[in-house]
Amino acid sequence: MSIALPRLGADIARLDGPQKVTGTATYAYEHPLTDPAYVVAICSTVARGRVVGIDASEAMHVAGVLAVLSHERAPALADTSDRELAILQTPDVRFRGQIVAAVVADSLEIATHAAGLVRVAYEADEHRVLLAADDPELYAPDDTDTSQGDVEAALRSAATTIDATYRTPIQHNNPLEPHTTVALWRDGWLRLYESTQSVHGVRDTIAGLFGLDEEQVHVSAPFVGGGFGSKGMVHAPTVLAAMAARALPGRPVKLALTRRQMFTLAGHRAPTIQRMRLGAAADGTLVALSHDVWQHTSHVKEFVEQASSISRMMYAAADRRTTHRLAPLDVPVQSWMRAPGAAPGSFALECAIDELAVALRIDPIELRVRNEPPADPETGLPWSSRNLVTCLRQGAEQFGWAAPGPAAGSRRVGRRLVGAGVAGGAYPRESMDGSLAQIELLHDGRYAVRIGAIDVGTGTWTALTQIAAEALGVPLERIALDIGDTALPYSHVPGGSAGITSWGSTLWGAATAFREAHGSDPSPGDEVTAGAAANPAEDAYAMHAFAAHFAEVSVDIDTGEVRVPRMLGVFAIGRVVNPRTARSQLIGGMTFGLSMALHEQSVMDPNAGAVVTQDLADYHVAANADVGDLDARWIDELDPHVNPMGTKGIGEIGIVGSAAAIANAVFHATGVRVRDLPITPDKLLAAG
Ligand code: MOS
Repeated sequence: MSIALPRLGADIARLDGPQKVTGTATYAYEHPLTDPAYVVAICSTVARGRVVGIDASEAMHVAGVLAVLSHERAPALADTSDRELAILQTPDVRFRGQIVAAVVADSLEIATHAAGLVRVAYEADEHRVLLAADDPELYAPDDTDTSQGDVEAALRSAATTIDATYRTPIQHNNPLEPHTTVALWRDGWLRLYESTQSVHGVRDTIAGLFGLDEEQVHVSAPFVGGGFGSKGMVHAPTVLAAMAARALPGRPVKLALTRRQMFTLAGHRAPTIQRMRLGAAADGTLVALSHDVWQHTSHVKEFVEQASSISRMMYAAADRRTTHRLAPLDVPVQSWMRAPGAAPGSFALECAIDELAVALRIDPIELRVRNEPPADPETGLPWSSRNLVTCLRQGAEQFGWAAPGPAAGSRRVGRRLVGAGVAGGAYPRESMDGSLAQIELLHDGRYAVRIGAIDVGTGTWTALTQIAAEALGVPLERIALDIGDTALPYSHVPGGSAGITSWGSTLWGAATAFREAHGSDPSPGDEVTAGAAANPAEDAYAMHAFAAHFAEVSVDIDTGEVRVPRMLGVFAIGRVVNPRTARSQLIGGMTFGLSMALHEQSVMDPNAGAVVTQDLADYHVAANADVGDLDARWIDELDPHVNPMGTKGIGEIGIVGSAAAIANAVFHATGVRVRDLPITPDKLLAAG
């Protein structure tokens, strides 16, 4: 068999690139449908209370208005147990910005105009939206506290201790493409074009809500313009679009959230308050590690941002504990945002380690090396691979890390203070089982490879094609991949950087099954549908990706402005399927970390009961001008345990630890320890 093109590990340009740059890749809103109607949501202007009257008479008189939906006039849902999704079923309002009505009209302009004419009257109750660690209603969510040994006793007897509290703000995912649904209800069938990370997840959720069989719902998402987790679960707007379609059978309806609505209806990362306590012997050996987390959760639906989970596995310490406490507030529903838990958690842990290094006068890399756990401290399982030390050492050399470096606040260049910081990071290698793939040999000699996977902008089209070619032992051009549709075999949501692990393993399993069924000389029409083979290593090893992050900052002594001229991430991520798309994921994650360190915050106004930074001017996401020289590298790592490809997941590890590296660099530059993200100039100037 001739191999005309390289496969696994090859630097292949995105196969979907030409479609994207020529504008022919169809995103959800763009599917050509005849005579669509448009849905505009009307959102509550109180944070807690109930709707006591809806006057739609004026709106209904506008030419082109087709329907006004509200709790008085909306389809009853078959399942209202998920209260985020059970919209328009009761008059209750549980957060500001909740969908309380909607207008459907012949054009977006008419629907927007008429939505402004619908008068909604409320009875408002007192609301509470600000997180405090002494909230009177704090509670411990199920199964999130861990404890080993006696951490209090270990802290008391430690030679050196750190006790510091860190804060991270509410953050919003803000993918470039807003959450979008195009829906068509015809003859008892529901057709959805959706911006989602999981077509089958949308299908199953919507079918359950509307009392349909799963086969009656068909979801397509061939191209998605980013999600960063916010499109991993179904949110209320999808339900609204389906309701509108049901109200107008046979007519397609389109709904795209406005950027403002993205700040209430598409999830967010909860704010955190994190108390880190570390105890160490004089040589830097950690003896105690305690990580307590406070965060908010919506009254509508509980969500735990698992910020302390990284503290359970990152470093050796015989005595440790982690806790989470939730304050139920009148806030919108949060959900996944890139590296849920690990992003804010690593900020607290990796800054605390840096504080300990300063207190002990030990180089922060050396301190981390001294606290390498030989096995997973939480489970006792051996690492499938770890190599954090290799990442730190290689990174130190490539970055030009100086140990011991100049004292904090001592290096000045002109009117700027200059410093460098380092941090570690880890992200679990998740795997979502149960996906299936179909492989069929076509008459033209290509293999059709069908799986309901999603490319959210990450390079899935390309990477899965490479994996399929490798698994079938054929050149790339003999693979005809099809993804992004519920007509294809069932696929799980790729949460937790698990896309390539899960779908790749599925393709690998299907390719193996194909060869077993049809031998080495298959005939056109031969096909097989199968899933991943069970991985015997799954419960025998602790599996994580690791990172070492380095950052250089310079801080203006007059304005407090922080610039980041250089960032380097060195990663232990197993085998890289495609260096080009992988690098893009890693530097994207690092940019997320930079953005988290310096810019991103959703400001909650306690009087309005809402986030008031509702656009990309007020909610600043790092732009090109904020980003300096970004370099992502990875070590040569072969992990035989994680999956047949040897991949550990790359979507999230880039953000885990990168914000801490910048915060540590800011301390090194200025001598000011900012424990409250983002590190805005006012916080540095206030500290003198
Ligand atoms: Mo990712 S935040 O697990 O979609």
